[in-house]
Amino acid sequence: MDIKEINSHLDLVLAKAEKDLEEVTELKDLQAVKVSYLGKKGPLKAAMKYMKDLSNEEKPLLGQAINKVQEAINEKIEALQVHLEEKALEEALEKDALDVTLPGRKHATGHRHVLVHIMEDIEDLFVEMGYQVVEGYEIESDHYNFEMMNLPKNHPARDMQDTFYITDEVLLRTHTSPVQARTMEAHDFSKGPLKMISPGRVFRRDDDDATHSHQFHQIEGLVVSKDVTLADLKGTLDLLAKELFGYDRATRLRPSYFPFTEPSVEVDVSCFKCGGEGCHVCKGTGWIEILGCGMVHPHVLEMAGVDPKEYQGFAFGIGADRIAMLKYEIEDIRHLYQNDQRFLNQF
Ligand code: PHE
Repeated sequence: MDIKEINSHLDLVLAKAEKDLEEVTELKDLQAVKVSYLGKKGPLKAAMKYMKDLSNEEKPLLGQAINKVQEAINEKIEALQVHLEEKALEEALEKDALDVTLPGRKHATGHRHVLVHIMEDIEDLFVEMGYQVVEGYEIESDHYNFEMMNLPKNHPARDMQDTFYITDEVLLRTHTSPVQARTMEAHDFSKGPLKMISPGRVFRRDDDDATHSHQFHQIEGLVVSKDVTLADLKGTLDLLAKELFGYDRATRLRPSYFPFTEPSVEVDVSCFKCGGEGCHVCKGTGWIEILGCGMVHPHVLEMAGVDPKEYQGFAFGIGADRIAMLKYEIEDIRHLYQNDQRFLNQF
């Protein structure tokens, strides 16, 4: 072969390489094409065998011609490699794409217990009216739980609040009233009246049945000032009843008895279920009892160091459990304490 024929042979090799490369669509196939043209057994290495047919002047031309084709093929391979790598990356990105608009996996977060809800709603209402919220001890002394509430030892009304004694003098509080006694005792009345509520857990030795539990939750309130009256109490509790059961509810007061208040009163709210006509919720009466209250007994004021001739007060106590049961028609108080998610998640 002379140099001309060799050149046209090399042109064919290049053309074939170009054609083969056109068909390569995957990186893994590119390597095979590269080896087949540029490798030891490829047509370019083989073309060296023509060297022996050429004259001394033509010999260098062969090397140059082979190099030129080799470079041309190499360039094409490199360009194709970059292109295929980009394409592979794009495909991978598309395939593994993270769609940030998809909804996330939900974390199960808890929520406040229905009793906490009710107590916080009541707290909010009273805080808006300028009351302070005071929490006290769940373990109390007989002195603050009973004596300061006008319930001396052997007083028959202690029976209504029989409880769990730790010693003869220390017990689980039966109401949050001891918090009021302590706060009233410590209050500096020269700085103004006392307005407080005390929410919290209380304990009584009760039969555990559908409507009684040995533990329940109270919010008690106390206002002591020079001029507070039963009318203020009535207005305040009417507002509380409306807040809890709706603004078209009516309230009524009924005489009652508590050792620590005089006069003592029970508050009924018109039935939120039937509007007062009579149904199973109000047991046909149209009214539902929601809380006890009254004007603070002068002796209770006196024991706390407050002069009953100058000051008077009103007090009330409401059970959060009872409110929850009425409001949501919960038929058994024990549901509130059993932590069954199916129950709790309804609120
Ligand atoms: N301390 C009373 C109880 O637990 C509730 C109450 C408070 C009643 C204030 C009247 C006035 O039964």
